[in-house]
Amino acid sequence: MAHSGFHSLREETAASLPVTGDLPDWLRGSLIRNGPGAFSFPDGSAVDHWFDGLAMLYRFTFDPGGRASGGGDAVHYRNRFLRTDAYEAARSGEFDGGFATGETTLRSRLAGFLTAPYDNANIVAERVGDRYVALTESPRGVGFDPNTLATTGPVDREGDAPSGQLSCAHFKRDPATGALVTLDTEFGRTSRYHVTAWTPSGDRRHVATVPTEKPAYMHSFALTPRYVVVTEFPLRLDPRRFLRPGRQAPFIEQFEWEPDRGTRIAVVDRTTGAVVAEPVTEPLFGFHHVNAFERAGGSEVVFDFETVPDATAIDSLYLETVRAGEMGAIAGRVDRFAVDLGGAVGTDRYGAAEATVSRERLSDEGTALPTASPARWCREHRYVYAMGMDAPVTEWARRVVKLDAETGVTRTFGDGADYFGEPVFVPAPDGDDEDDGVVLTIALDVDADRSRLFVLDGETLAERARATLPHAAPFDFHGRYFPELRAAAAE
Ligand SMILES: [Fe+2]
Repeated sequence: MAHSGFHSLREETAASLPVTGDLPDWLRGSLIRNGPGAFSFPDGSAVDHWFDGLAMLYRFTFDPGGRASGGGDAVHYRNRFLRTDAYEAARSGEFDGGFATGETTLRSRLAGFLTAPYDNANIVAERVGDRYVALTESPRGVGFDPNTLATTGPVDREGDAPSGQLSCAHFKRDPATGALVTLDTEFGRTSRYHVTAWTPSGDRRHVATVPTEKPAYMHSFALTPRYVVVTEFPLRLDPRRFLRPGRQAPFIEQFEWEPDRGTRIAVVDRTTGAVVAEPVTEPLFGFHHVNAFERAGGSEVVFDFETVPDATAIDSLYLETVRAGEMGAIAGRVDRFAVDLGGAVGTDRYGAAEATVSRERLSDEGTALPTASPARWCREHRYVYAMGMDAPVTEWARRVVKLDAETGVTRTFGDGADYFGEPVFVPAPDGDDEDDGVVLTIALDVDADRSRLFVLDGETLAERARATLPHAAPFDFHGRYFPELRAAAAE
């Protein structure tokens, strides 16, 4: 049977995969990916939305020369479900999703945050201090052993710094300080966004608190050395809904699209915690801030953000829709936003009126899950890698694309498989140019009923190596490359 990529993978595997092509000798770490591994469960129940599948981790440890397997380039592969409350509930037929499936999930997500936070952490794998943690849009992370992928238990927001009931799944790391910055939403009489940061040693500290009239659904934010940018879309939630009696719609369906609000871009000083500017621009929606940086001595904040047409992108990702090939609104475009802070720099006034926003389209290429080199995080970047999608979308991404913000030229790769996932750029340790390195991506070969890992050249997107998995993995979300997770330690 041909796979749509939205199937359930039941097996957990460990295998050494032979490699076709050549792995760079310096590529000796591990790619850990996270995504929904199963959408239906043994008792016949199922979730309704791609974002609600049960979290599965995948690890690919690169072994050039085959030091850990006795000769020949190899990739050591392993996949495993997270063992969470959600996983246990699914085994007993009681899992009701948490994002777009189930009727009580908003209430349970808000009410249960102290005792039983939502833990189907299927979005990102991150390193927090010495711990490896799977993340979702809840303040509860789920720790795992990076070698075995065994679940080690909850990782909550420890310490005195404030938190909330909802979180951006994407933390942002400042490579200069090692700080890992988070954005949580606290619902209340006055709802607030709390920015906090984990230090490299794993302590949490408060950075800033930004009040909001009505909280927005936000999947990520932007970070520069001096600022945090909170892009508050007009997809808003009235917290009083939580108190209403009777049946509740699924979590995300409780948010309402209020385009008249426009999009508030709150620029927050990381040192003082002050909102130095909060210009309002046209109504926007999207999930991923790619990267951000400062220009003009810090008086201009620039960030790349992948916009989608509007919040119906979320509706387009219901499984019934994607399996039918009706993914109309999911193709994004990467836009570069520049906030001129005007006279706001150096003041701590709330709501400086002088700030202005400009917007420039990097490319007309349809995209999903855009990324930039981690070596460029918080600094100016030139290249964006993404899944390439046609619009309107009738099938999943058929290619990987590389956008060049300087020339506007796009490169693509689309060979050797049918559908491609998020590209992760790994910089070469001794590289001179931003794109010296490789791009890692997982693709699905429908006829072969197998997924395949591709190692592409970061400059040209030419294939350098591939390895075929023992099964077809469902389409997943995000991966991180961890150079410290090496084969000798892993096997
Ligand atoms: Fe994401």
